[in-house]
Amino acid sequence: MASSAGSVGKGCPEISEFPAGATAGRPVPAVGLGTASFPFVEEDVRATILAALELGYRHLDTASLYRSERAVGEAVAEAARRGVVASREEVFVTTKMWCSQCHPDLVLPSLRESLQNLQMEYVDLYLVHWPVAAKPGKPQFPVKREDIVPMDLRGVWRAMEECHRLGLARMIGVSNFTTTKLQELLAIAEIPPAVNQVEMNPIWQQKKLIEFCKDKGIHVTAYSPLGGQSMSNAVLQSEVLEEISKARGKSVAQISLRWIYEQGASMVAKSLKRERLKENMEIFDWELGDEDRFKISQIPQHKRVRVTGILSPEDASGVDLAELDIVEM
Ligand SMILES: NC(=O)c1ccc[n+]([C@@H]2O[C@H](COP(=O)([O-])OP(=O)(O)OC[C@H]3O[C@@H](n4cnc5c(N)ncnc54)[C@H](OP(=O)(O)O)[C@@H]3O)[C@@H](O)[C@H]2O)c1
Repeated sequence: MASSAGSVGKGCPEISEFPAGATAGRPVPAVGLGTASFPFVEEDVRATILAALELGYRHLDTASLYRSERAVGEAVAEAARRGVVASREEVFVTTKMWCSQCHPDLVLPSLRESLQNLQMEYVDLYLVHWPVAAKPGKPQFPVKREDIVPMDLRGVWRAMEECHRLGLARMIGVSNFTTTKLQELLAIAEIPPAVNQVEMNPIWQQKKLIEFCKDKGIHVTAYSPLGGQSMSNAVLQSEVLEEISKARGKSVAQISLRWIYEQGASMVAKSLKRERLKENMEIFDWELGDEDRFKISQIPQHKRVRVTGILSPEDASGVDLAELDIVEM
């Protein structure tokens, strides 16, 4: 179960942590800041990260795709200069390798490039962003279907393990992996993935995956814990969550985040607004009731992020991606 974090912002609640990874990693803060922002305005993201660190956030989630690595590095350095954090060591930094970098000989150079952007010696967690490989090139979204190539999972994971052994990634993990893909990985891994970062919230509860990961000792981090950044948002507009929120005197966002925490998962939530950053941390000194939990368990399930969502709509792919769609209930 989660433990309480040591160092936090003044007047703000402590963020709990979850133990993760049998290797050299440190615990994962239960609430972290997501830095994928659309549209991406670097100065705004940098200022948000600094504000989050001041409030007590200690987990920053970035990726080579998001273009936010530089902002993360600069904000952490500024926070250290201002005494907001004692040093970079206090912050848990996650970054990810994009599909076009998902090749055995590109893993280490891609991490070095990320570290260069971050101006850091190591990341706390390095993730394979998707179990999808595309022709080598700069990280781009969407991925052209015609660029998809078969992924060398064994070779990629050996290179991830090398990143860990070199001390450049304290922990290594994956993202958007189904139980089937995880099984495939566990069969060949010398160092098992410490974390699987996946879409998870009351509208996409991932029960099967959570059970599987618990059994295998893989920590789950929820992304899009508030339903993601599109206009229609099934989490923030959920009537069930709204009803619970009114009864509890908490916001709908807090109900969603608290529910995730109670499942034993950490989360990375994105907001550019200081008040919301603060609100999203305030989930540790109260709990849902059994009736709330039952109501949430009855919410019809809907998955927002599909592998087709990261691909260009046109062109044909020579690789069958159907097995990658994480529609596991
Ligand atoms: N591994 C992957 O494949 C993957 C995929 C998607 C995302 N991620 C990671 O997960 C992070 C979070 O997911 P996400 O960006 O999809 O969205 P999210 O965290 O679910 O947030 C969705 C939206 O909710 C709003 N919001 C935040 N706090 C709120 C509150 N208290 N009340 C009302 N609205 C609130 C934010 O808008 P404002 O900024 O206007 O507050 C934000 O745009 C990303 O930034 C990224 O780091 C990873």
